[in-house]
Amino acid sequence: MFIPSINSDTATTMKLICILPVLLLASVKPAISSLRRYDSIFSFGDSFTDTGNDIVVIPPVIPAAQPPYGMTFFGRPTGRYSNGRLIIDFIAEELELPFVPPFLSHNGSFRQGANFAVAGATALDAVFFRDIPDVGLLVPNTSTSVQLRWFESLKPSLCSPAQECPGFFHNSLFFVGEFGFNDYSFAVFGNTIPQLRSIVPDVVKTISVAIEVLIKQGAMTVVVPGIPPLGCTPASLVFFPSADPADYEPRTGCLKDLNEIAVHHNFLLQESLENVRRNHPSVAVVYADFFTPVIEMVESPHKFGLTRNALRCCCGGGGKYNFNTSGPSCGMPGATVCEDPSAYLFWDGHLTEEAYRYIAQDWLNSIHNGSNLMGLQRIANI
Ligand SMILES: *[C@@H]1O[C@H](CO)[C@@H](O)[C@H](O)[C@H]1NC(C)=O
Ligand SMILES: *[C@@H]1O[C@H](CO)[C@@H](O)[C@H](O)[C@H]1NC(C)=O
Ligand SMILES: *[C@@H]1O[C@H](CO)[C@@H](O)[C@H](O)[C@H]1NC(C)=O
Ligand SMILES: *[C@@H]1O[C@H](CO)[C@@H](O)[C@H](O)[C@H]1NC(C)=O
Repeated sequence: MFIPSINSDTATTMKLICILPVLLLASVKPAISSLRRYDSIFSFGDSFTDTGNDIVVIPPVIPAAQPPYGMTFFGRPTGRYSNGRLIIDFIAEELELPFVPPFLSHNGSFRQGANFAVAGATALDAVFFRDIPDVGLLVPNTSTSVQLRWFESLKPSLCSPAQECPGFFHNSLFFVGEFGFNDYSFAVFGNTIPQLRSIVPDVVKTISVAIEVLIKQGAMTVVVPGIPPLGCTPASLVFFPSADPADYEPRTGCLKDLNEIAVHHNFLLQESLENVRRNHPSVAVVYADFFTPVIEMVESPHKFGLTRNALRCCCGGGGKYNFNTSGPSCGMPGATVCEDPSAYLFWDGHLTEEAYRYIAQDWLNSIHNGSNLMGLQRIANI
């Protein structure tokens, strides 16, 4: 990767820094003509993917239903936890499909896709968290298995008789997750790090069971995102501050222990995807890396046109990370919003549209790569 030298002419350097993110995007962007065509997108997950289900599930007042959410792209709050589009929105645009409509709040056809993701959703069923003091009862009943039930209930309107369904889903792109981020975010209260680590295999198992269910329905392309660095989110940094500098990664300023949980989850998840691939050699199972791009942006914000302190939220209630657990959150009276969200990695603790745009290009590349490999394999098998 080209890194502008700080010794060269300053004006040139500044220009290079400004155009660098654009160049990076251009270099990883697959040509649309070379992308496989999909007729629909079905997605499962949490607030990183929710395009409006939360408005129905978490009444009466959710922050993401208030301004300034949506200020950059939609011009109004839509229930998305960002200032604009999410990764799933950029991917839909790139595949020339409509924004994936939220299953619970869209009054219309789902033949081009449905989004079952809900803010706060966990992989494990809510009952698993019930006994955790304070937070246990806040875990919504929207886990992976609940979202799969919603999918099941939608099927008759997509394909009937049922024998038509595998054919219909052959040409769909499925997203399973990200799941897991909320499992750890809830479980971290009232559990030690080793206890948290011990639930990782169960979380991963739940995700791989969901993938198997979808493959049985006819899914041929399944994208499975890992989780972002848990120890870098402003919420983690504010809830679990440490006086010991050794608890922070020197290169990022993120919490070591929590990032290690994320690394462990992503490692076990990739291992289990290998298993799924072995069981279903004709299905493209694509791992989408949510960890590395965020770490890259935290480590070298300037390469992405971001402000120096990448861990600070654009929108929030004050404090070092502009994330205030005892004060207003983004969308509530008293919170403030930065002037230029595109210079920020974090919007409200979730990411800004600009960050999602970059990650979406990375994932599109992986999807492209994954489905190409399958194509080659099919040719080889003939
Ligand atoms: C859904 O759409 C139909 C037809 O467009 C309309 O008659 C109906 O009132 C709508 N329902 C809701 C809950 O918005
Ligand atoms: C959770 O939601 C599902 C589907 O909406 C429902 O069938 C189930 O009874 C709910 N479970 C609880 C414990 O509320
Ligand atoms: C957090 O919000 C509370 C209540 O509005 C306020 O008193 C406090 O100063 C804020 N904390 C920081 C660090 O800004
Ligand atoms: C494409 O897939 C191959 C094989 O899985 C992998 O080694 C390579 O890193 C992938 N490239 C990208 C850009 O994802």
